[in-house]
Amino acid sequence: MKIFVDGADIAEIRELAEIGIVDGVTTNPSIIAKSGKDFFKVIKEITEIIHGPVSAEVVATEHKKMVEEGLRLRDIAENVTVKVPLTLEGLHACNILSSQDIMVNVTLCFSANQAVLAAKCGATFISPFVGRLDDIGENGMSLIADIVNIYKNYHFDTEILVASIRNVSHCHQAALLGADAITAPSSVIRQLVKHPLTDAGLEIFLQDWQKTGQRILGK
Ligand code: E4P
Repeated sequence: MKIFVDGADIAEIRELAEIGIVDGVTTNPSIIAKSGKDFFKVIKEITEIIHGPVSAEVVATEHKKMVEEGLRLRDIAENVTVKVPLTLEGLHACNILSSQDIMVNVTLCFSANQAVLAAKCGATFISPFVGRLDDIGENGMSLIADIVNIYKNYHFDTEILVASIRNVSHCHQAALLGADAITAPSSVIRQLVKHPLTDAGLEIFLQDWQKTGQRILGK
């Protein structure tokens, strides 16, 4: 399963990338606004760190303008993935951009029918928002299960990028369902490594090692 960082914090992206656990990055207009940084500069900086897909979202609402914006964003770097909203105009833009071999991430997906349309229009990624569905009392992960099954039925190539992740349980369930990728805030990605028995076990190993008086380095 690919792991994408959902955010624009350069230091965080760099640190997690150096460890070797980041396959891509997603941003959206709210993330860019929160970063307080220049959109083009921050996307450029991210693409210099991450060689996998880096999603940058258009803000036009009409397909021709979306395509224009998408091409401008794609000029930043080859690994920029143009993010378009799941509207008819967004699907039309997706179709045009993907036919030019430009990666497209169709975002704000909340139903399996929407995911089918995105795949038909050549989306590289479909981003179903699980957390926002949970927030309104629906079950975000059951949408992922539906999309996984439907995409298998029709052999669609579009990758399922589980988005709006709130916790490690979402990541676990996405992996169990066989989703292609998750995009999560760096705080959630950091929590994936945590287990109290790992910390406790390590403490005991280190204490016992000290008792031996031995060293591995500097002998
Ligand atoms: C994904 O591409 C979106 O940027 C993101 O996952 C939205 O998450 P939120 O619902 O926590 O804002």
